[in-house]
Amino acid sequence: MPNTLDNSYIANGPWKPAIFEGKVAFVTGGAGTICRVQTEALILLGCKAVIVGRNKEKTQLAAKEMSILSQVPDSVLPIYGVDVREFDQLERAVALTVEKFGRIDFVIAGAAGNFIAPFEQLSANAFKSVVSIDLLGSFNTAKACLPYLKLSKGSILFVSATFHYYGVPFQSHVGAAKAGIDALSNALAVELGISGIRSNCIAPGAIEGTEGISRLSGAVSKDQMCSKIPLQRLGTTKDIADTTVFLFSDAARYVTGTVHIVDGGMWHLGTHFGREMYPQNLLVEDNAKL
Ligand code: HXC
Repeated sequence: MPNTLDNSYIANGPWKPAIFEGKVAFVTGGAGTICRVQTEALILLGCKAVIVGRNKEKTQLAAKEMSILSQVPDSVLPIYGVDVREFDQLERAVALTVEKFGRIDFVIAGAAGNFIAPFEQLSANAFKSVVSIDLLGSFNTAKACLPYLKLSKGSILFVSATFHYYGVPFQSHVGAAKAGIDALSNALAVELGISGIRSNCIAPGAIEGTEGISRLSGAVSKDQMCSKIPLQRLGTTKDIADTTVFLFSDAARYVTGTVHIVDGGMWHLGTHFGREMYPQNLLVEDNAKL
């Protein structure tokens, strides 16, 4: 299944056309696989979007292709050279967004970093890098957008994970960061709810064709992965996009402070694909290969 949407998403899908007409989304990591398709769904439903990233070429190309997809020229604005660890860079991105589109209704804090590393081989700087991108970056994104979310009574969506529901080896850095994201979202739901702002998380499972799955699955085959998922298939970016549309739509107007797990039921069986190899995978020299 390709990691992009087309107009059949509206024609054959469950959503009413143009439900996001007049709305503007601000998406960090919007040129990446999952957040790109989340954004595509929004723009196919009438939203304008800003995708924020570090890489100039990648961010510009994604915005160009997405504008073509929406059939509305310049419906997606690329803002590159932004590291979510730097609050002032996000403030600049927010200012450019408002200059171009005049408002912000939806925020997706999606920029993330990940690699497999046993705790013993994880340097303090490596831990700090992932926690800074995932957790501090999510805080910076919500904080920079807040003045405009208050004006629009908008909605925030954080991209979380299921790694922190129990101990997943080689993911101590990501698990710690994503646990923090859930906590941040819950607190924002309570604090900002009185301003009409909703805050929720999506926790994707194993999503086909993503950098995350290629980094995390190691030597495990697709068939082996699917057999460990109750719904017997990998997730798709469209699965995540559909939950995103729901959470930003009026259908979710009373939904805040939640984590929507979109994983085919996988975490109930344990999300660590290498668990059959435990504890041997902790005892070999090059355990990142397992
Ligand atoms: C051990 C590693 C490492 C590895 C990097 N480091 N890769 N340590 N194993 N494989 C260490 C480096 O040695 C360094 O520590 C520190 O991390 C920072 O590395 P830099 O390359 O200087 O950092 P930076 O350029 O900021 O890059 C951040 C990054 C990188 C996270 C390390 O991988 C990145 O930019 N990733 C973005 C793309 C990405 O990861 N996408 C996947 C998202 S998937 P020292 O001590 O040497 O200085 C995802 C899935 C979530 O998030 C779960 C969904 C279910």
